[in-house]
Amino acid sequence: MSKILEIRDLKAAAKRRVPKMFFDYADSGAWTEGTYRANEEDFRNIKLRQRVLVDMTNRSLESTMIGQKVSMPVALSPTGLTGMQHADGEMLAAKAAEEFGVPFTLSTMSICSIEDVASVTTKPFWFQLYVMRDREFVKNLIDRAKAAKCSALVLTLDLQILGQRHKDLRNGLSAPPKFTPKHIWQMATRPLWCLQMLQTKRRSFGNIVGHAKNVSDLSSLSSWTAEQFDPQLSWENVAEIKEMWGGPLILKGILDVEDAKMAARTGADAIIVSNHGGRQLDGAPSSISMLPKIVDAVGDQIEVHLDGGIRSGQDVLKAIALGAKGTYIGRPFLYGLGAGGKAGVTTALEIIHKELDITMALCGKRDIRDINRDVIAQ
Ligand code: FNR
Repeated sequence: MSKILEIRDLKAAAKRRVPKMFFDYADSGAWTEGTYRANEEDFRNIKLRQRVLVDMTNRSLESTMIGQKVSMPVALSPTGLTGMQHADGEMLAAKAAEEFGVPFTLSTMSICSIEDVASVTTKPFWFQLYVMRDREFVKNLIDRAKAAKCSALVLTLDLQILGQRHKDLRNGLSAPPKFTPKHIWQMATRPLWCLQMLQTKRRSFGNIVGHAKNVSDLSSLSSWTAEQFDPQLSWENVAEIKEMWGGPLILKGILDVEDAKMAARTGADAIIVSNHGGRQLDGAPSSISMLPKIVDAVGDQIEVHLDGGIRSGQDVLKAIALGAKGTYIGRPFLYGLGAGGKAGVTTALEIIHKELDITMALCGKRDIRDINRDVIAQ
């Protein structure tokens, strides 16, 4: 990985290694992908203040997210089908994150199960919950996350129905995948990926198959997922989940000031300003453009985090400067995973760490906990 200097390099490497339909799954947004692009572009439009002759020795990126220590304020986002970017993907990413000292969030729609990830980690990870219509299944998932000693529940609120992603539709990607000759050709041209995939047994949704009622194989899973996302999810349900879980709770998918106020009233520990990486409401504003308004409205009541469009340590610094206490990366770690498994995820984290450190120093700051809007050029 010697020529890998930035996240873009990992993306190019992942594209060469991962079958097209799964690379596209990670790399796509809803409809025109306008919001997906805006997430990245709006970061680029924010400029930083260059400062000189400030003592830049003894710098620290250490911080906390919901009171938990992090080596830098960057967590791995929950992402579905991560085990399709690389065999055993969630287990590898969780290990890389643990060694780096940042939180890993396991998606409900992961390939490796909660128990798989718990079996390879020694520190607690976070679990992301989709509230399914089958509440018994939800209760059981929460119990499994408790048994695995997950140290936060990330409750996703912005997927009551699924946003439409044209690339997935064109590629014929369904949940679970149904393989046509085109797909088999795409996989055959990625022999290393195939070989590793053949060596693992984890190729389906590990949190669901064998746990949800009447879901025992791929075809029953297909109809189950199609009908299980709950379009009637409400703030009352959030309170019920909070009660059921009883631990640190993070509400993911807040993009509106009024929703942020409602979220702050739930007594959750944090919100994530997020548009699901541009995968749900295309036409919604970028996460970073909404962050200052949301921080101004609720920042004194609840910890505010951000995801969407972070592609460098500079982007992390900008989000922290605009009031985020923590940030998340989705695609950057998926590209790393696709490019090189666990080592690739570590590379993604190292790149972001280094960029964040150098940028902070050149802005004349030594401690990430002292960063505020002062570092943004007006
Ligand atoms: C996601 N995201 C997501 N969110 C969630 O709460 N549960 C999930 O299962 C998934 N699945 C998922 C799959 C893939 C392939 C992607 C790219 C994203 C959204 C994710 O948690 C996060 O909000 C975005 O990825 C952040 O944007 P960036 O960092 O990818 O630009």
